[in-house]
Amino acid sequence: MSSTEQDLSYLRDIVRNHSAMVLDPSRDHLFETKLYHLMRSENLGTLGQLVQSLRMRSSPHMERSIAEAMTINETSFFRDLRPFCLMESELLPRLIANRRRERHLRFWSAACSSGQEAYSLAMLLLDKFPELTTWRVEIVGTDLSAEMVERANAGKYLRIEVNRGLPARYLLSYFDKGEDDWTIKPHVRRLCSFQQRNLCAAPWLFERYDGILLRNVLFYFSDETRRRLLTRVHQMLAPDGFLFLGASEQASLPELWKPVLSDRACYHVPVPQR
Ligand SMILES: C[S@@+](CC[C@H](N)C(=O)[O-])C[C@H]1O[C@@H](n2cnc3c(N)ncnc32)[C@H](O)[C@@H]1O
Repeated sequence: MSSTEQDLSYLRDIVRNHSAMVLDPSRDHLFETKLYHLMRSENLGTLGQLVQSLRMRSSPHMERSIAEAMTINETSFFRDLRPFCLMESELLPRLIANRRRERHLRFWSAACSSGQEAYSLAMLLLDKFPELTTWRVEIVGTDLSAEMVERANAGKYLRIEVNRGLPARYLLSYFDKGEDDWTIKPHVRRLCSFQQRNLCAAPWLFERYDGILLRNVLFYFSDETRRRLLTRVHQMLAPDGFLFLGASEQASLPELWKPVLSDRACYHVPVPQR
């Protein structure tokens, strides 16, 4: 049984319902490859059979697995570099000065994929701000995909992954070399924790962060979902905190977020609400 336009549209709806990602029909060919293992494990040979089995017997578990399998997990250490340079030169020194009394900093790598973003920030903090070793520093990474969260938790990366964006000095200082891979050292790992979390689904825990990286995920969502998410994120950021979006993403919510351009990188600060 081959897949019809109705089958593909049914699968797109499942992905949208479980992840808020709006998949463009031009990417329909990805269903076949990305759902291959899932179909194999269910003894289903085609997308048509998969859709038929879901139509006959709904399975929220299977639907969630489909949404997770369709995520695009592209990431790298120090991705886009400029936000990290700006954090080092300007944003973190200011934040550290503001938190001298509490000696506590919390960051959120939202949609963290396999953890490179969170670990990049952890290495930057350890390397450039040694005074923080006596502070409480937390970097929370969250992602929709259980597989990505598991990878982030393991902190183990292939050569091809550590060769992308990671300065050699950081690799030698902050990773243990295995036979075929590199594992993040325990003192870096300790700063980070990872959880499976859907950015677009209730319930939201109330958490407060000093810096939020919400990069390269907004463009998968509808305008309405983006607006709702950025409104919620506004409530979670400290008034003197910063938000980074991906290089090609904008908040476009002037009543909530003010974009600031500095040193060729753009970050957002929360507009105070009365
Ligand atoms: C392209 S990666 C970006 C990773 C990282 N932020 C970066 O910029 O390198 C997008 C990530 O968003 C995650 N994602 C997609 N929809 C999500 C949702 N509704 N909730 C949480 N994470 C989601 C995917 O699983 C994927 O790992």
